[in-house]
Amino acid sequence: MDNKALLERLEKMERAAELGGGEARIQRQHDNGKWTARERIDALLDADSFVELDKLVQHQCRDFGMEKTRHPGDGVVTGYGRIDGRLVYVFAQDFTVFGGSLSGAHARKICKVMDHAIRAGAPVFGLNDSGGARIQEGVASLGGYADIFLRNTMASGVIPQISAILGPCAGGAVYSPAITDFIAMVDQTSYMFVTGPDVIKTVTHEEVTKDDLGGAGTHNATSGVAHFQVPDEAAMMALLRELLSFLPQNNLEEAPRRATTDAADRLCPSLTELVPNNPNKPYDMHDCIKALADDGHFLEVQAEYAKNILVGFVRLDGRSVGVVANQPNFLAGCLDINSSIKAARFVRFCDAFNIPILTLVDVPGFLPGTVQELGGIIKHGAKLLYAFAEATVPKVTVITRKAYGGAYDVMSSKHIRADFNFAWPTAEIAVMGPQGAVNIIHRGELAKADDPEARRAELVEEYRDTFANPYRAAELGYIDEVLRPEHTRIRLVQAFAALENKRDTNPPKKHGNIPL
Ligand code: HXC
Repeated sequence: MDNKALLERLEKMERAAELGGGEARIQRQHDNGKWTARERIDALLDADSFVELDKLVQHQCRDFGMEKTRHPGDGVVTGYGRIDGRLVYVFAQDFTVFGGSLSGAHARKICKVMDHAIRAGAPVFGLNDSGGARIQEGVASLGGYADIFLRNTMASGVIPQISAILGPCAGGAVYSPAITDFIAMVDQTSYMFVTGPDVIKTVTHEEVTKDDLGGAGTHNATSGVAHFQVPDEAAMMALLRELLSFLPQNNLEEAPRRATTDAADRLCPSLTELVPNNPNKPYDMHDCIKALADDGHFLEVQAEYAKNILVGFVRLDGRSVGVVANQPNFLAGCLDINSSIKAARFVRFCDAFNIPILTLVDVPGFLPGTVQELGGIIKHGAKLLYAFAEATVPKVTVITRKAYGGAYDVMSSKHIRADFNFAWPTAEIAVMGPQGAVNIIHRGELAKADDPEARRAELVEEYRDTFANPYRAAELGYIDEVLRPEHTRIRLVQAFAALENKRDTNPPKKHGNIPL
C-alpha cells in the first residue's frame, strides 16, 4: 500500500469511529432530545481542545455473533481537553453503539482516562448515557464496572469527579456516579435506578414510572442522590463549566481566583433590615448570601433537597468559597436528618479540595419528633458535627439570628475550630429559646402565679434580654466580633484574606470513622 492508501485506511477507520452506531441511530438520539457523545464533548470543552484517546479500540466479544458487529471506539469517547484553558479528562458514553453499554474494552477506556486524570491531578468528567452492562459480555462487563468503581474511590478527595447523567443509568452502573463528587441530571431524558419499574412491579407489586422512580426531579428533590437538575443538554454543559470554575484541579491546589469589579469594601445596607424583629418570622437566607457574594452570584448545590439548609459556591473578592447556611424560610431552618447529610457531604467536599467555608447560622435547633429520632438523627446530625470539626480549611461563621442548643455547637462554632466567628446584634445564642427555657427554669413560679400568662411573658422578655443575644458569647471570646450587618461582606473578605495561608492538620490516622 502506498502512503496515500495508508492514510486513507486510517481516515476510513476514524470516520467509522466518529459515526458511532450510524446515521439512523444518531437521528434517533436527536429525536429523543439527546446529543451524541461527540456533540456533548464539543459543547463541554473549549473549542478545538479535545484530544481523543483509544479511538480505534474495539470489543473482543466472540459470543452471540458479536464478532460481526464491531464499532471502533466501542461506545465511549474518551480523552482530554480544556475548560477555560484548564486541563480536564472526559469520557462520554455513546448510546448509538450498543446503547452505550459497557463492555470490557469500553471499561478499560474509561479506566485509562481516570488513571491519567489521577496521575496528572486533573478533574474528570463522566458523561453517562448507557444501557448498563453489555449483556453479551457477561462477567467481563461486571469486572469492568468494578475496575471503574475502584478508580472512583481512589480518586475521591484527590481530583474533582463530576458526573452528568444524560440518558439511562441503571443497575450497578449507578454506583460510579454515586461515588463521584457531583451528579447533574437532565430533566425528562435521564434516569438512575438500581432496579427498574418492571423488576419492582414483580417483586413488590408497586407500580411506578421511570421518571417518578429515577428521574431528575426525583433525585434532586426527594432522594438527594443528585446535586443539579437542568432543562436540557446545553444547560448541562454550561453548568459543568461553571461548576469547575469554583474548583481546584486537585487536592494540592487552590481554586482559581477570578478578578471582580465588585468592591471588597462594598457595604451591604440591605442586610440591616433583613432579620425581622419578630423572632418567629422567617426570611430568605438566599437574600443574605446574594448580598454578600461577588456580583450577587450563588451557585446553589442540591437546591431542591432539604431546603432547610442551603449549600453552594460564591466568590468573595474573587476567592471561591463554599457556603453552608440555615434557611429560616423552610422548617424554620431546623437541622434534620436530610439537611445534616446534605451539608456534611458538602463540607467534606470543600475541605478535601481546599475551598474555604462560610457558615451562616440561624438555627432554632434539631427538628423534634419520632420520625427524626427513630430515623437516626443522632448519627446523621453527628455527620455534620464531625464534618465541620475535622475540616482544616479556613472557616468563618456568621450568626445572623438563632444559634440554640447543640445546633450552636454543630454550625461551625469556635469550639470545633472555626477561625473567625461573627454575630449580628440580632443574634440569639443560648441553650434553648426563651419560651422553652422559661417553662423549665420557672416552672414552680409559674404554677403559683396569679396570672401565669402575664408572668410568663415578662420572664420570656427578661430571658431574651439577658441571654438571647450575642453578648454572653462575645464576653467569652466565642464570638470574635459583633458585626453591623452592613459591614459583613467587608469583614468576610478581610477574614478569608487573613486565612489565606492557614495551615492546620488532624492527627495521623488511616481514616476517621465518620458516623455513616
Ligand atoms: C447490550 C444493549 C444494552 C445492553 C441496550 N442495548 N442495552 N446492548 N447490552 N445492556 C442495545 C439494544 O440492543 C439496541 O441495539 C440499542 O442498544 C438501543 O437500545 P433500545 O432498547 O433500542 O433503546 P431504548 O428503547 O431507548 O431503551 C434503552 C434501554 C433498554 C432502556 C436502556 O435498551 C434496556 O432496557 N436495555 C437493557 C438494560 C439492562 O438490563 N442492562 C443491564 C442492567 S444490569 P440496536 O442494535 O437495536 O440499536 C447492569 C449491571 C451493572 O447494568 C452491574 C455493575 C456492577
